[in-house]
Amino acid sequence: MPDGDPAALIELLRARTDGLPSWLQGHIGRVVTESRRLAPLHEVDPLRVQAAAWGHDLYRHFDDDALLREAAALGIAPDVAQQAAPILLHGPVAALRAQSDWGVRDTEVLEAIRVHTTGRPDMSPIALTLFLADKLEPAKVSADPGLAGIRTLANHHPAAALLAFLDRRIAQYLASGGVVHPLALETRNWALSQVGGREA
Ligand SMILES: [Fe+2]
Ligand SMILES: [Fe+2]
Repeated sequence: MPDGDPAALIELLRARTDGLPSWLQGHIGRVVTESRRLAPLHEVDPLRVQAAAWGHDLYRHFDDDALLREAAALGIAPDVAQQAAPILLHGPVAALRAQSDWGVRDTEVLEAIRVHTTGRPDMSPIALTLFLADKLEPAKVSADPGLAGIRTLANHHPAAALLAFLDRRIAQYLASGGVVHPLALETRNWALSQVGGREA
């Protein structure tokens, strides 16, 4: 069992990335590197956040039907947003598989994997570091240079970076007529409270 041994937990989850599509392996590797870079700046355990990074996208390549089947098999009832955009299920599915099938017991690592797409209010520091590493890894910034300033902000002001990222992303989803998961909105309001803002 990997409990209490982050190095073993890393190896368990890293091994699960063998055989994933190369585009996904590339992204996961960059998120691991970004998590390792941010960990000392955020004063979180670098090994536990790296473990979460290895595990976060193990179901990212599943199509909508496959994710809905996985959710059903795991007893997850998709909410309205997840029904409209099943990709929102890839974090919860990975976390539940890790917990029920792979023996992962580290609750903060499991939470980081589960909420990496939406965040959640009061998310743990490990979950926050993974969220930012995932959204701001170098290829994401290259594809959307407007993220560069938020990546810099994330070095020393993670809650402010979370707020800036979600403000931007939610506005993009609304402008394009896309689905916004309620947890993303709740996380945005929590981030606002963390930086001394006032909830509307
Ligand atoms: Fe993801
Ligand atoms: Fe990711």
